[in-house]
Formats: sequence, C-alpha cells, structure tokens
Amino acid sequence: MAAIIDGRQIAEEIKLDLKKDVEQLRNLNCVPNLVVVLVGKDPASQIYVRMKTKAALALRISSETIDLPTDVTQEQLLKTIDSLNKDNNVHGILVQLPLPAHIDEKAVINSIAPAKDVDGFHPVNRGKLQTGEDTFLPCTPLGIQQMLARSEIDTNGKHVVIVGRSNIVGLPLATMLVQKQAGANATVTVCHTGTVGLDNHTKNADILIAAAGRAGMIAGPMIKEGAVVIDVGVNRVDDPSSDKGYRIVGDVEFESASIVASAITPVPGGVGPMTIAMLMFNTVKAARQLSQA
Ligand code: GUN
Repeated sequence: MAAIIDGRQIAEEIKLDLKKDVEQLRNLNCVPNLVVVLVGKDPASQIYVRMKTKAALALRISSETIDLPTDVTQEQLLKTIDSLNKDNNVHGILVQLPLPAHIDEKAVINSIAPAKDVDGFHPVNRGKLQTGEDTFLPCTPLGIQQMLARSEIDTNGKHVVIVGRSNIVGLPLATMLVQKQAGANATVTVCHTGTVGLDNHTKNADILIAAAGRAGMIAGPMIKEGAVVIDVGVNRVDDPSSDKGYRIVGDVEFESASIVASAITPVPGGVGPMTIAMLMFNTVKAARQLSQA
C-alpha cells in the first residue's frame, strides 16, 4: 500500500519558514504585496483566488484582488497591469487564468513586468528556466519539486514520466527536472493527448506525474510496482451524494493506483496546497529583490 504524501503538511512547513522571512522584510520596512487580477466570475477561479489571498494574509503578506468584469476590454486589462507594474508598493502580480476568449492570454502574460511575475509565466522567466538561470519558477512545478525533495524522493537518474504538456505544469516541470542540479537530474518523458500507447510509457516511470486534466485517466495497471505517483489533476465529477452535487477528483484513480505505487499524493490535499505555498515563496522572493532587502 502506498504511503500518502501529505501536501498540506509540507506546505505548512514551508509557510512557517516564509512567515519568518516576511517578518524580516517588514522589519526593513518592506511589506510584501501580492496583487491578484481576476477577470469574470468563474466559480473555480474565484475559489482559487480566495485561497491565494487568504494564504498571503495568514503570512502577513499584503494582498488584494482586483475584480474585473467578464467583458473588460483587453486594453483596460493591459492598463491595469501597466499601473501595477509601475507601482513600487506592488511586488507580485498574478492574473488568474483562464481568461475570457476575447482576451489574448499571451499578450496579457507578456505585459507583466518579469520582476513581478510570481507565476513564472513570462517568456523572459521561461527562457531563464530553460537556460538554468535564477528566475521565478512556476508555482505548481516548484511545489512538486519541493514535495519530492522534502519527502526524500530522489529524482537523480530516475525516469520521470509527465502526462500533460501545459504551459502551467507539464512543460516547465519537464524543464526543471531535467536540469543538471540537485532535486533534478532526471530522465524525463513528456506524454500528451497525441501519445500512442500511453501505458507503455507510464509503466516505465519511477516517478509518474499526472497533469492532463482528465479524471481518473491513470489507473493501477498503468503504473510500475513501487513507483511514486504525483496527481496534479483537479476535476469536478458529479456526485449526487455530496451537498454540492459534485466532488473533486484527480487524474489518478486513487484506489487502484495506491495498491501498486510506493507513494502517492491525494486530491485534495496533495499538490494544491503546495502550489499556494510556492506562490507565497515567489512573492517573498519578488519583494526581497525589488526592495533589495
Ligand atoms: N490557473 C490555474 N493554475 C494557475 C496558476 O498557477 N496561475 C494562474 N495565474 N492561473 C492559474
């Protein structure tokens, strides 16, 4: 039976350290400040944003959300970001994705000052990741790397198979784990919806990372005996027995997978809390760099 990797617990440990960093910065007259921009009323995005600002405030990081209507023009959104870029009291800017279809997501990401890009999505920061320079690493990949390191799961020389090639998770994570560095140095395979014979790849994974956004797509028979399984999925499935009428499940079929795996992350309580902790980490880093404290 697989050991459970408790993301909530590891995230709390990280946030405890960050709390001290925040107090140090505050003593130097720098109050780390994260501004989240939320466009529209997508219920899942609203929940994520609330969790992010709540985590910030608990660490005494200042945080506000700018709520913009669904029909905001691209010009208005870019103007909002421009004023945040110029505001010396703002250290981190996060525009919650996805954005409405009439807005060019790339243009918005490109407009965020790279020094305030706590999501690590700006092409300058992605380029730095690629060449191994210090930068803001995207929060979910960084959370996964930290989770493995703090659970003493060595990636050095291991075969990591990532299912999913998104810009938010799969691609940056592959780039991070292949680097010749501590906490990385893995052999990485990236699978996606075009992969033929997915289970031939997943069965070879020492560490299997499911980040495709499809409920239960990875089941026990697709996993090598003793593998470590990281589930990035957050999927709503109908559940009439629950008050809300739905429940959240990952990309991994937990029951069958936990019989085969040596360790597994639950959903919820796995990768999710780590993403938020790393956003706090990036915000503190941005504040430190911008204030030169
Ligand atoms: N939507 C889903 N995940 C993320 C994330 O990590 N950052 C932002 N900005 N939007 C998201």
